[in-house]
Amino acid sequence: PSGVVRDTLERPLHDLRISVTDRCNFRCVYCMPREKFGADHSYLPRSDLLTFDEIARVARVGGRLGIRKIRLTGGEPLLRAGIADLIAELRINPDLDIAMTTNGALLGAHAVSLKAAGLDRVTVSLDSINPVVFEQMSDTRIPLSRVLAGIAAAAEAGLGPVKLNAVVRREINGGHDHLLALADHFRGTDTTVRFIEYMDVGTTNGWNLGEVVPARIIVDTISAVFPLALVPPRYPGEVAARYRYRDGMGEIGVISSVTNPFCRSCTRARLSADGQVHTCLFSSGGFDLRSHLRSGASDLELEAILRRLWLGRKDRYSELRSAATDSVTTNKIEMSYIGG
Ligand code: GTP
Ligand code: 5AD
Ligand code: SF4
Ligand code: SF4
Repeated sequence: PSGVVRDTLERPLHDLRISVTDRCNFRCVYCMPREKFGADHSYLPRSDLLTFDEIARVARVGGRLGIRKIRLTGGEPLLRAGIADLIAELRINPDLDIAMTTNGALLGAHAVSLKAAGLDRVTVSLDSINPVVFEQMSDTRIPLSRVLAGIAAAAEAGLGPVKLNAVVRREINGGHDHLLALADHFRGTDTTVRFIEYMDVGTTNGWNLGEVVPARIIVDTISAVFPLALVPPRYPGEVAARYRYRDGMGEIGVISSVTNPFCRSCTRARLSADGQVHTCLFSSGGFDLRSHLRSGASDLELEAILRRLWLGRKDRYSELRSAATDSVTTNKIEMSYIGG
């Protein structure tokens, strides 16, 4: 490797989050609301998507700059045909941590082949354990039971410990009973629920601060019934703060990107399905790496491009928003393009 590259705030490049498709079989109201992502929505044409070889090449070049962790996202990554083949291509490097964020609906069908291809672990997005609220938030006909079966299949296939991401919205799944029911359902298993403060990603979800339940309140709510103790981070810059149940029944996590932003330790670069590099989740413009990939750039040239992008990186959107208490950029990229 050519050595670690640090941005203007001294943050190393460590993770690459790769969106493999802009499609999804859910229509979560805060991410792909049906009014904006209806039957007439035009998705990226296939020729715009990076091929698996192109993605693997970016990952390999990124490895020379310090990338040690890759997360495949979407949209819904399991909708990309042959996704296990991409994992096998990335797995050529045994040191890489390869994870996937999925809504879980197709995990039952894919868990075993994903594991066999070399996927290390999965994170499943699950906002509620109540079938009615689940349907309301994800706006899909796919039943909650299928997602739960997918989580179980992933654990059984060795893709665990499975982490769950629950986006908390005050009026919908943010009440005491809801938070407790979700925590309680997975208490005593090695599946960890991570409660995420609802963020102002993209421009279609009409976010406002009033919908956010602060992580502190989430922890206090659960701890009042199932006492919790803070656990130190597993690695520097871990996004979720971890809490263990004092009675030994496992742990939960909270992700406080609104009330306690973690930009200072943000080591993540993002690659959209059409090959744009974004150095922040709240980016308003990416760098078109695809045109370089497709115009004959050498590995060394690609490496130089990525190095230059990272060296110039100044992003700390969540910290700036937190100071402003409101969205501070207007033309942000949608979550479904960049995968969270
Ligand atoms: P592991 O610790 O490796 O499991 O990964 P992770 O904690 O980064 O998990 P994951 O990628 O599933 O991220 C969980 C959620 O945290 C995402 O869905 C986002 O809502 C939020 N998140 C992750 N990375 C960032 C980031 O760079 N900025 C902000 N603002 N939020 C992020
Ligand atoms: N705020 C926080 N998390 C979000 N996600 C999607 N939209 C938001 C938002 N506005 C999460 C999803 C999924 C991951 C890809 O990002 O729940 O776990
Ligand atoms: Fe799909 Fe995930 Fe967005 Fe929901 S949050 S619409 S599951 S990409
Ligand atoms: Fe990283 Fe941007 Fe998220 Fe801050 S807001 S943690 S810089 S992705």
